[in-house]
Amino acid sequence: MAGNREFVNRRLHSLLGVIPIGVFLIQHLVVNHFITGGPESFNKASDFMGSLPFKIVLETVVIYLPLLYHAIYGLYIAFTATGNVNRFKTYRNWMYILQRITGVLTLIFIAWHVWQTRVAAAFGSEVSYDMMHDILSSPFMFVFYLVGILSAIFHFANGLWSFLVSWGITVSPRSQLISTYVTVGIFVVLSIISVQTLIAFAF
Ligand code: HEM
Repeated sequence: MAGNREFVNRRLHSLLGVIPIGVFLIQHLVVNHFITGGPESFNKASDFMGSLPFKIVLETVVIYLPLLYHAIYGLYIAFTATGNVNRFKTYRNWMYILQRITGVLTLIFIAWHVWQTRVAAAFGSEVSYDMMHDILSSPFMFVFYLVGILSAIFHFANGLWSFLVSWGITVSPRSQLISTYVTVGIFVVLSIISVQTLIAFAF
């Protein structure tokens, strides 16, 4: 019975990492990339997202609750997991360890980022180009955002690889090799988009 509950928890944790959290991550990075077209272009895209009906319900159901579940259960997995990188120094073992480290880094980053933007907005600040420009003009914050965002992207892309294995989609060694290339590609593309976004906000 306990084993069954653990199985369901694991499956839910895995699914939520891709849908909706992973989908939201991609959407968020793409909307922010509008800054490369200038502050006007970003403000328009951000205002559109901000004007969606039932925004707070949408955010809670699509982002906050799934993220809370994934993060809390993720912390439990990360701190009870026993990596075997000391015995087997293989690529996949390193990815397993990095998945846990980047999960914790992502959590720290998201907590700060939500505080600095959404919570600040609830107290009357306007989330706009000016706000992000002010934040990212500080070299410390620039590096903090860079590390946080690259951690989240790595965690998502590498997580997608293990998601495909967990759900029985990539079973053969060949399909797992192909999905390694595809997920590394996703990591590279999303990272380039995000570095361009950070630079455009800061300078
Ligand atoms: C942007 C936010 C996040 C996204 C997009 C995301 C996505 C994913 C995905 C797709 C997986 C793979 C699921 C699978 O192996 O089947 C995963 C696994 C994992 N996530 Fe996250 N995640 C996020 C935030 C977090 C946070 C904040 C934590 C907290 C520490 C966390 C901890 C974990 C752990 C430990 C695993 C490995 C589970 C396992 O191997 O069984 N994640 N995540």
